[in-house]
Amino acid sequence: MTAPFDPRPPTEHQFLLDGRPVPFTEGQTILQAARAAGLYIPSLCWDPRFVPHGSCKLCVVKAAGRHVSACATQAREGWEVESSTPEINDMRRGLLQMLFVSGEHFCPGCEKSGHCKLQALGYEFEMLGPRFPHFHPQRPVDASHPELMLDLTRCVLCELCVRASREVDHTDVFGVEGRGIHKRLVVNAPSGQLADTPIAATDLAARICPVGAILPKGRGFAVPIGERPYDRATIRAPIPGEEDTP
Ligand code: FES
Repeated sequence: MTAPFDPRPPTEHQFLLDGRPVPFTEGQTILQAARAAGLYIPSLCWDPRFVPHGSCKLCVVKAAGRHVSACATQAREGWEVESSTPEINDMRRGLLQMLFVSGEHFCPGCEKSGHCKLQALGYEFEMLGPRFPHFHPQRPVDASHPELMLDLTRCVLCELCVRASREVDHTDVFGVEGRGIHKRLVVNAPSGQLADTPIAATDLAARICPVGAILPKGRGFAVPIGERPYDRATIRAPIPGEEDTP
């Protein structure tokens, strides 16, 4: 006998995040469901407009006894997911400290200060010092473009600009070369210079950098220090007009 027709929408599933129920629909990741429910799991390389990249690992949570990337792991019915525990937050702090020493992140001298997700995450996880020796990488600054500046010493290899230029702007301006410690962002032009690409300041690739690696010229201090989004609220609070950004 067939089941009687049920006009109600399919029931949502549910998992627990730090003991709080989170509804989800089939196929949603832990991070998507948590954000939809207004619960915060940190992220740096995730953006809802792109397929998860899973590189920064700041979204790590413990689900079914294993550490997984919340941005790339589909939620499962009945899972008990741990996110904000001292152990996981200490891992996140360590990842942040590694990111800080892998590049040159001198927040007081950076135009992105107060609008930088790396800096805001450092505050969020109470990062008080570097923990590891500074790498001081020798990487170039590209000031060739009339509207944009590219400082590779600040790049955290989230590849958001790569994905934005490929999938939204359709310009393929950015790419990544090398592996491990030698991995680096490259500009796809014979000269390797931004000026020799079609990128414009209005392109998503030019605006999506979560740190101060890609910056518009001539607007650095249009919003004074102290009045910037993360000067006024923590990274847990969405920035008005940027609710969809990671
Ligand atoms: Fe999930 Fe970066 S690995 S946000």
